[in-house]
Amino acid sequence: MPKRTPEPTTPPRERAFLVGVEIYQEKNLLSLEDSLSELALLADTAGLDVVGEMTQKLERPNPETYIGSGKVEELKALAEETLAQVILFDNELSPRHQRELERILGEKVRVLDRTALILDIFAQHAHTSEGMLQVELAQYEYYLPRLTRQWTHLARQAGGGGGRAGSVGGVGLRGPGETQLEVDRREIRRKIAHLKRELEKVRAHRERYRAQRKRSRIPTVALVGYTNAGKSTLLNRIAGADVYAADQLFATLDPTTRRVEMRGGHLALFTDTVGFIQKLPTTLVAAFRATLEEIAEADLLLHVVDISHPNALAQFQAVEQTLREIGAGHIPVLTALNKVDRLKDPHAAQAVLTNYPQAVAISALKDIGIPELMSKIAQELYETYTPIQLWLPYQEGQLLSLFHESGQVERIEHGRGGVWIAGRIPGRLVAQFREYLAAHPPQIQEA
Ligand code: GTP
Repeated sequence: MPKRTPEPTTPPRERAFLVGVEIYQEKNLLSLEDSLSELALLADTAGLDVVGEMTQKLERPNPETYIGSGKVEELKALAEETLAQVILFDNELSPRHQRELERILGEKVRVLDRTALILDIFAQHAHTSEGMLQVELAQYEYYLPRLTRQWTHLARQAGGGGGRAGSVGGVGLRGPGETQLEVDRREIRRKIAHLKRELEKVRAHRERYRAQRKRSRIPTVALVGYTNAGKSTLLNRIAGADVYAADQLFATLDPTTRRVEMRGGHLALFTDTVGFIQKLPTTLVAAFRATLEEIAEADLLLHVVDISHPNALAQFQAVEQTLREIGAGHIPVLTALNKVDRLKDPHAAQAVLTNYPQAVAISALKDIGIPELMSKIAQELYETYTPIQLWLPYQEGQLLSLFHESGQVERIEHGRGGVWIAGRIPGRLVAQFREYLAAHPPQIQEA
C-alpha cells in the first residue's frame, strides 16, 4: 500500500490587538491611522488576525510602558475582552518597554512591535542563502537584548541547522524556565559570530560575480519601490520571468536578475529588489546593507509606484528617503506609475504624472504602457549622455579607451600617474566610472 502523505497543516492564526502611538515631535510620513492600517496588513501577511486597535497621542513615550499607565489598564481590559494573544505596537519598543508591558498585561499575551513583525515576514520569505543568513542575523541581534523566559524557545528555534527563525504567528513561543537564560544568551552570541563569518563568505562570492557582471558591460536597471507596488509583476511582464508575485507585503526578498533584450538589440539586466516600507527596522537595514548597496551600483533605477494607493505620494517619499540613506541618491531614476488600470478616471493618471519626475503610467498586470516604458529605459541607457569629469589612473587604460569609443571627450589633461578627462558618456556607463569621479583636474585642486 502506498504511504499516505499527511495533509500540510497550517498553524492556527493568532489573535492580535494593535496599538499605535503618535509622538508629537516625531515626523512620520504616514498619519497614525494610515500607519496602523499598514500594520494591520503586515499582521495579516504574518498570519495574525487583527481583533482590535487602540491609539494614543503623546508628548514622549513613557519610559516604562511606552503608553501611559491609564492606557495600559485600558489595553489590559480590551485584550481580555477580545481574547487577544498578541499585542502589536506600531512603534519600536525597547526591551524594557516590552518586559514591563508583558509583566502588567499578564501571562496570556505576548507584546511585539512592528520590527519583530517585519523580521518575521522577512524570515518567511527569504530563500537564498544570503537572504536567510541576513534575516537570521537580524533576528538574533533583535532578540538578544530581549531574551526572557518567553523568548527562549524562539531563540532556540532560530538558526537550528540553517533553519528559519521562529514565527510570531502560530507556534507557541513560550519555552522552559529561566535557568536556561544565560546559556541561551551565550549560545546566541556564538551564533551571531558564526552567521557573520558565513555572510562574509557568501558576500565574497557575490563580489566576484558582481565584478564579472561589470566586465560584461551590460547595464543594470534596479526595480525599486514600496512593498506591494508591483515590482515582481513588472519584471515578469518585461522579462517573461517567473518571479513570485503575490498580494502580500515583502513577497520578494531576494534579488532576482533577468537579462532583457530591448529595442535595437540592446541588452540590460533587470533586478528586482526587496520592497521598502516606512519605519524600516534599523536592524534590518543594517543586515541588508550589502544587498541594498547593490542598488547603489545600478546604472538606472526604475521606481515602481502603486498610483492607485491612497498614500502613493508618502510611499514615493519613503522610497526616495531610503535610497538617499543607502547612497543611491545620485543614480538616474525613471518612475513607473503602476496599476493605472485601477484608477476610475484614466485621465487622472495624466494629471498625476506631472507631479513625478520622468514618469510613465503603466499597468504591469494589464499590459498597459509597457512599450513606452521600455523605450524610455533604452533611451536613458543608450541615448542620453551624462556630463562627467574623471581622474583616471594610467593603469585604467581600458576605461580610458571605453570613454574614447563610447563617449564624447571635451577636455583632457595629462598629469602625473593619470589623466583628467571631461566630457559626456551614455547613462549606462556612468556606474563603471563612478569610483574615479573628480570635480577638478589635480593641478586646479592644488592651486
Ligand atoms: P514586494 O515583494 O512586497 O516588494 O511586492 P512587489 O512590489 O514585488 O509587488 P508584486 O509584483 O508582488 O504585486 C503586488 C500585488 O499587486 C499583486 O497582487 C499583483 O497582482 C498586483 N499588481 C501588480 N501590478 C498591478 C497592476 O498593474 N494592476 C493591478 N490591478 N494590480 C497589480
